[in-house]
Amino acid sequence: MPWRRRSGWLLTLAALAAGCTEDSCEEDWVLDQLVDAESESELLDVRLLQTQFTQHRGPVKQEEPVQSDHVMSVDHNGKVCMLCNQPLPERITRPYEAFRKDCGKYSSPSGPSLDIMALPAVQLGGGAAEGFCALNFAKSCADAVANQDYLYFAKGIDFNHPSMSSNVRWDGRYCRLNGFLETQVLQLHRNFTALQQHADELCRTKYAKHGIERLSFLDMLQLSKQEDSNAPSLEEAEMMAAWNCAMGDLGCDMAMCAYSFCKQGDSHTALYGECPGWTPVEGMPDGG
Ligand SMILES: *[C@@H]1O[C@H](CO)[C@@H](O)[C@H](O)[C@H]1NC(C)=O
Repeated sequence: MPWRRRSGWLLTLAALAAGCTEDSCEEDWVLDQLVDAESESELLDVRLLQTQFTQHRGPVKQEEPVQSDHVMSVDHNGKVCMLCNQPLPERITRPYEAFRKDCGKYSSPSGPSLDIMALPAVQLGGGAAEGFCALNFAKSCADAVANQDYLYFAKGIDFNHPSMSSNVRWDGRYCRLNGFLETQVLQLHRNFTALQQHADELCRTKYAKHGIERLSFLDMLQLSKQEDSNAPSLEEAEMMAAWNCAMGDLGCDMAMCAYSFCKQGDSHTALYGECPGWTPVEGMPDGG
């Protein structure tokens, strides 16, 4: 998924899942990452998050997810939910009635466990965004499918939000390298059936060579080298798309790309209103 996946908060989540508190971590990879990062501030984040989730523990009464942050929230079952937002009000053109309450099977009050993160994503649910639902990660992709509108997902992500700002460059590049900013995708992305068919076909063909059956959430985290200004490579961008196939739907990311980014010159992308003709309701013009 877009985005979103690779900043400090995801690392923090992995650390949390690994049971890292101070300087103890059972998972070597997570430990390495933490050492690489400015450990002090990252570990502080872990403690803050733990406090936050401890305070929220226990069922939350509200119908809708509690917005504790743009990226992280706690669902109606008291489980951590990431990227679970409904569309921003100023972007909506239609009412959305479907809102799944049966997601988060593999989440918990402190997020998914490390064991779950290490499982091949295809084992989490398979098909029709069920992996996103079961993990409570990009759960709004499952809601987008339930509403038969991939723009539901795209319109729930705000790359201008401070917690997303460090994802803009990586995600724009991911979108461009995968061809998700091309006219063909732009012309399809408002038609749910058409985009779903196209996404399924790409998963069966172009992305099949990336080992969709094996990719796990931890693989996805490792692909997310947001701090590297040359990342993602073409290979990494395609593997990230393949991971979305494994989670059950590539259409959400394709729509997120088409709605949010446009190509700028040979190697850059621009965001939202920086692109000619973009509006919050309509997104990008179909011609690119
Ligand atoms: C959406 O795409 C499907 C499948 O390609 C097509 O049959 C249908 O006519 C399209 N709908 C609209 C409103 O363009």
